[in-house]
Amino acid sequence: MNYCVIGLQWGDEGKGKIVDILAEKCDIVVRYGGGANAGHTVVVGDSKFALHLLPSGSIRPNTTCVITNGVVIDPEVLINGIKRLAQENISLDKRLLISENAHVVLDYHKKEDQLREESLGKNKIGTTIRGIGPCYADKIGRSYAVRMADLTDLENLKAKLQTIIDYKNKVFGAVYNAEPLNADEIFEKCKSYADKLAPFITDTTEFLHKSIAEGKTILFEGAQGSLLDLDHGTFPFVTSSNSSSLGMPAGSGVPAKMVGKFIGVVKAYTTRVGAGPFPSEQDNDTGQYIRDRGNEYGTTTGRPRRCGWFDAVAASYSATIGAIDSIALLHLDTLSGLKELKICRAYKINGREITFFPASITRLSLAEPVYDTVPGWDEEITDVSGFEDLPANARDYINRIEKLTGKPIDIIGVGPKRDQTIFRRTL
Ligand code: GDP
Ligand code: IMO
Ligand code: MG
Repeated sequence: MNYCVIGLQWGDEGKGKIVDILAEKCDIVVRYGGGANAGHTVVVGDSKFALHLLPSGSIRPNTTCVITNGVVIDPEVLINGIKRLAQENISLDKRLLISENAHVVLDYHKKEDQLREESLGKNKIGTTIRGIGPCYADKIGRSYAVRMADLTDLENLKAKLQTIIDYKNKVFGAVYNAEPLNADEIFEKCKSYADKLAPFITDTTEFLHKSIAEGKTILFEGAQGSLLDLDHGTFPFVTSSNSSSLGMPAGSGVPAKMVGKFIGVVKAYTTRVGAGPFPSEQDNDTGQYIRDRGNEYGTTTGRPRRCGWFDAVAASYSATIGAIDSIALLHLDTLSGLKELKICRAYKINGREITFFPASITRLSLAEPVYDTVPGWDEEITDVSGFEDLPANARDYINRIEKLTGKPIDIIGVGPKRDQTIFRRTL
């Protein structure tokens, strides 16, 4: 049985933790989309890992880790990730595979991301400035793109980079009055990336299909969240990839029908980093309470995350487009101590109640949340290991979300550690 783990909100739901746990029973973990905009946290004992490009199965020494074609790879971040694991005596030799077809994020992508955000001023998207949008734009545009395979063909890469950087310098100079980039410097950096990464670069599509034929178990790890999906999220306040489960087949070369279970991860509330509509946002003391208790600061950028109530309209939409079989609900512990909890069960737009997430950002911006209010619980629950041992109000809260989303909540998180996880059913 193969699995796919997907965020159902605006990212940072706790995918890293769930992937690390499920990786125990899988042979291969695949990152298939996004880039170093992701920050997936895995806590093992006293060690904490923030993974940006490496799959969250990397921590387990027997897991094969694959980065497929849909990922945009910043080689510097990847090399640092490999080094960080080496510090803990975790080696990726012979168990990391990187797709030849994955695109490469280079300095000019990060520069363009920054220049564009600055020039947008208050209309900015609030990107992570990791060069994600510009790199995917070059991929779609085709003419000025660099793929991992190019790092294994340095002779041709040199000429290619010269053409690209001549073009970028003209555009950056004309549009942003920016300093020119130096093609030789970027080529030298690519040479050093090639030194370190060439042994891992291969045909990952072939590898994955062979592995499936051999009966290996594969876990596909989504990055970002479904509401940040370029086509199906809150455009334009989204990322530049298909970060819902709909991006998994194209991003990996493996058809979705080969996945037996799609697992959607949510927090027991909602967070968002960056700009864009967020109907159940609590920009008040409640939001601050959640931010403090949940340590809601970005894993990649350190930005404070915007916090709000659980939004069942948004989560149900993501679960529907993602064909979700099972939900993992994390951070239940963060809500302890709140007298009352609210769950957004519908939106009111121009006086009409709707329960299907609107496609138009204009309509979403008008959405007033319609809440169910339920009693909270005072007890700390970080040591609870069985569903029946949770306070009655916490169980009711979960059951209510289960009803609203129409999906079983099979995993519940009560803390960041592996063992702070309640399994209601085995997956
Ligand atoms: P990801 O991007 O979806 O992998 O999520 P992040 O790693 O960016 O953010 C999730 C944060 O919540 C991390 O710091 C995790 O260690 C932490 N975390 C995960 N599950 C739980 C939980 O059930 N309770 C608490 N308190 N923290 C959790
Ligand atoms: P993980 O995998 C939360 C958000 C950014 C911004 C928008 C576009 O850790 O859940 P980008 O740099 O992708 O062009 O930024 O998307 N964003 C994330 N928010 N978690 C993430 O990843 C994110 N990756 C991108 O904050 O709003
Ligand atoms: Mg994250």
